[in-house]
Amino acid sequence: MALGVLALALFAGGLQAQTLTLGPYLQNVTETSVVVRFGLDAAAGAEVRYGPTDAYGSAVTAPPAAEFELRLDGLTAGAEIHYRLFAGGVPLCDDISFRTAPPPRAPFRMLVLGDTRSDHDTHRAIVEAASATAPQVWVHTGDMVSSGEVLEDWLTFFSIESPLMGSVPQFGAIGNHDEDSGDAANYLRFYALPENGLAREFYYSFTYGNLHGIVLDGHVNVDPEWQCVLRIGAWETCFTQQQLDWLAADLAAAAADPDIDHIFVFLHMGPYSSKEGRSGYAQIRELLPSFLDHGVEMIITGHDHYYERGFSDNGIAYVIAAGGGAPLYETWVPPTSPPHSVVMNETVYHYVTLDVDWLCVTMTATRLDGSVLDTYATCSEPKACAVPEADCGALPPSCAAGRWVCDAGFCSAVDCEGIEEPLEEPEEPAADAAEQDDPGPADVAPDPDAADPEADEVVPPDVPGDVAGEEEHDAAAGCGCSAAA
Ligand SMILES: [Fe+2]
Repeated sequence: MALGVLALALFAGGLQAQTLTLGPYLQNVTETSVVVRFGLDAAAGAEVRYGPTDAYGSAVTAPPAAEFELRLDGLTAGAEIHYRLFAGGVPLCDDISFRTAPPPRAPFRMLVLGDTRSDHDTHRAIVEAASATAPQVWVHTGDMVSSGEVLEDWLTFFSIESPLMGSVPQFGAIGNHDEDSGDAANYLRFYALPENGLAREFYYSFTYGNLHGIVLDGHVNVDPEWQCVLRIGAWETCFTQQQLDWLAADLAAAAADPDIDHIFVFLHMGPYSSKEGRSGYAQIRELLPSFLDHGVEMIITGHDHYYERGFSDNGIAYVIAAGGGAPLYETWVPPTSPPHSVVMNETVYHYVTLDVDWLCVTMTATRLDGSVLDTYATCSEPKACAVPEADCGALPPSCAAGRWVCDAGFCSAVDCEGIEEPLEEPEEPAADAAEQDDPGPADVAPDPDAADPEADEVVPPDVPGDVAGEEEHDAAAGCGCSAAA
């Protein structure tokens, strides 16, 4: 819904007016809550009215301030929620609506994009194009702004993203440009993220539907203890032991959770790179065995300003989604080292959507011009009888096509009419469109980011790789349960 500013708020007894100078935008959405952030040009008391319709019914108020971070609680999972901002009883914006995180296994669409700094026109165009796909939630893979310590950069960023973030809550992964001066003060100021990690909002996890997103911070700059346990001859990126310990526990918990069918990892700098002079980050590659052990299906990163999809040497899908407005990079082909496989890459502005439908996630990468750049589907195996007894009223809409349910201790396929059908394999994922796509001419801009300290070790491109084929990632091959008698 449009977020046009409607009116000026008037203080009683005077004509002191307030206008929105920031947001509103939404973050840290859960099944029952969301955080609303916004700013005013002059301090005033503020109120957010919210509820299932534009009649609202609930409200949260705040004392006079110029900037607000208000949590709306008591919401219903997967529900449409309306809200509207007020100051002095006068509305500051139109009615806006969003959806809370859905219950496990309900289908949803997630938007992913990154590296939106520098070219504001392209950034705005990407956000507008992505908005048309009607995502319910999104993840930003970092480098929101060019200079993290420059307030104006953040205000520009949110002026571009708030028209979508007002109705689509966003999770963010901090990038090297966002921290910039080292303390990431503005990032912490403007981002309200889960604090279930051990270093405030720098790394954390969230669960949205049946997808568990793990957001990592690969930049030790923001960690006051500066403990690099995996520093491997590169720039100052590393993971602290604290983050690694937290990650191990979070991965184990997610893998054991019967309501989580997909684990995705999001971070700014990825394990591989096709940019000349880069090869990716070894400390992230060190985590790949643990990712595989715990069922991580995909790693989505930014930092390298192009689109790329491939597989790690142990078969985990990775995507570089960094086409949000930063200067595009040409790719260096063939990027064969460290060992991994590149399915495709393209130098183009783009965004990515993830359509999550219970056991399968279909990823679509779309160019700024609207053409489909790449598609890929990944399916997980159902956790043993994770779905309650066949109760069609409790099953997600996707079960209408026939899905797995637990029936007296066995998995069986049941449609929503309650008619049991023979046990069937889940559908094969969508065909990989990459090989059918003819990459268009590169839209390459020079890289003005010469001072960006992102250099990594350069490895000759002729090192043979132990490449994992896509056939290892086709789809779930059944749940291993028996059909109900
Ligand atoms: Fe970066």
